[in-house]
Amino acid sequence: MRLRVVVTRRIFPELIEELRARYELVDNQEDAVWSAAQLAERLRDADGALLTSGERVDDALLAACPQLKVASNIAVGYNNIDLAACTRHGVAATNTPDVLNEATADHAWALLLAAARRIGESERWLRAGHWQRWTFEMFMGAELHGTTLGVLGMGRIGRAIARRAQGFGMRVLYHNRRRLPAAEEGAAHWVTKEDLLRAVDHLIVMVPGGTETRHLIGSAELALMKPTAVLVNVARGGVVDDDALAAALRAGRLAAAGLDVFEDEPKVHASLLALENAVLTPHIASSTRATREAMAKLAMRNLDDVLQGRRPAALLNPDVWDHRRH
Ligand code: DGY
Repeated sequence: MRLRVVVTRRIFPELIEELRARYELVDNQEDAVWSAAQLAERLRDADGALLTSGERVDDALLAACPQLKVASNIAVGYNNIDLAACTRHGVAATNTPDVLNEATADHAWALLLAAARRIGESERWLRAGHWQRWTFEMFMGAELHGTTLGVLGMGRIGRAIARRAQGFGMRVLYHNRRRLPAAEEGAAHWVTKEDLLRAVDHLIVMVPGGTETRHLIGSAELALMKPTAVLVNVARGGVVDDDALAAALRAGRLAAAGLDVFEDEPKVHASLLALENAVLTPHIASSTRATREAMAKLAMRNLDDVLQGRRPAALLNPDVWDHRRH
């Protein structure tokens, strides 16, 4: 009997056909957003699931899917997956590290540049027909070249972000709970979180999401930052307190923000939507054709590996391997 695989969202049709050749496939080419109950219903007799960060994998879902052997996330972030629950239920969980580092770092810089140089605001103004004459002091933005960039969360993507700073002649400070070995630090210097917030001219947040990092940047942290600073979040919604950020931007306690992720996405805080000094994108930091294909292919390889009895390279809960479901 062929194994049954569920793909929870629309992905490239040619990749779907590759999967269909190997598995009995339930796909979602109309790209409906399934409720938790609909997801459980579709996964009830599935052996594998290819899912995205929008679907929650927890105890309740796993208990309802006794045949499920692998939850393969098409994302590097996995705060949607309860790893302990997966291990308890004998389900392997996997993600897509590395293949999206460069695209995500590019997007972090796109947001930093756009927010610092007021690209969204000035473009909206121009399109609205306000440009009657040029003035010397029009839309003056924040300087990037020669300033100090902070990276909060110097993992693989953080390091790709830091490398790009060299081209801008920027000094890089970073904070991780643990200092990196010298070989991985590159030209960046470790400082405490408080020193980072106080010292940097601009800050990019790139820590994993989840309960441990919820509101890592709230009103107290924002108060430490320079009022001329730009804050960028390409990590996960909830790492930055959106309400506190909107208040700081409105009051001029922070110059601008570039945000790709939001606490309650796809709903965006109404105050952020109303602010000219916030550049907002809909969680697309890794969204280039090449990167999304690489993510989908890696997620498919992870899924295949588990279903064919091979240990996948991107296994998130290695403890499961010796007592996984067969
Ligand atoms: C990721 O890979 O974690 C991206 O944020 C897409 O969810």
